[in-house]
Amino acid sequence: MNHTFSISSLFLIHFLILFPHVRSANDIVRDTCKKIASDRPNFKFDFCVKSLEADPEGHKVDVEGLGLIGLKLLQANITGTTEYIKQLLKKKWEQRLLKALSLCLEYYALVEGEDYTPLYKAKRYHEVNIRVSGVLTNEDSCDTQESRKGGMVPLLTKHNDDISQLSTIVLFITASFLGGE
Ligand SMILES: *[C@@H]1O[C@H](CO)[C@@H](O)[C@H](O)[C@H]1NC(C)=O
Repeated sequence: MNHTFSISSLFLIHFLILFPHVRSANDIVRDTCKKIASDRPNFKFDFCVKSLEADPEGHKVDVEGLGLIGLKLLQANITGTTEYIKQLLKKKWEQRLLKALSLCLEYYALVEGEDYTPLYKAKRYHEVNIRVSGVLTNEDSCDTQESRKGGMVPLLTKHNDDISQLSTIVLFITASFLGGE
């Protein structure tokens, strides 16, 4: 085997495939998260980067791929949160909290188990956007319990916030594809 060839081709593989790819993937994630955060004071840049970079399925990393990652994370979060509330409801709570948790379960049950990825893959971004807006409305209803204040169900504050952050990511990305419509 020709050593000069194998070393230079190794280098080339490294340079052409690995290096620019990884770099640009990180850039796209950070760039997207930065844009979302720029006019949303409650948006958590670090959460956004951490969530979108941890992609076990290795989606194609362009903005469209990030939207799909966000959507899948969001749906998994809704399912996880619904399960969590069901576990919480097995324990004893004071009446007010019990009522609040049950209400949250009702709100999340309305959107749990829905799979919007086929719509997303079909580029029906407007429909995805409407449905994820619905998720955000239900999250807000759980979190505020019809008051004007968030965090009304302390046990769910973190879960609600994750769902809110992930919804915001998906809403931003889908809306960005609708610019010309
Ligand atoms: C929701 O998503 C975030 C970010 O990916 C993750 O850290 C968290 O564990 C998820 N929560 C649930 C309940 O799945």
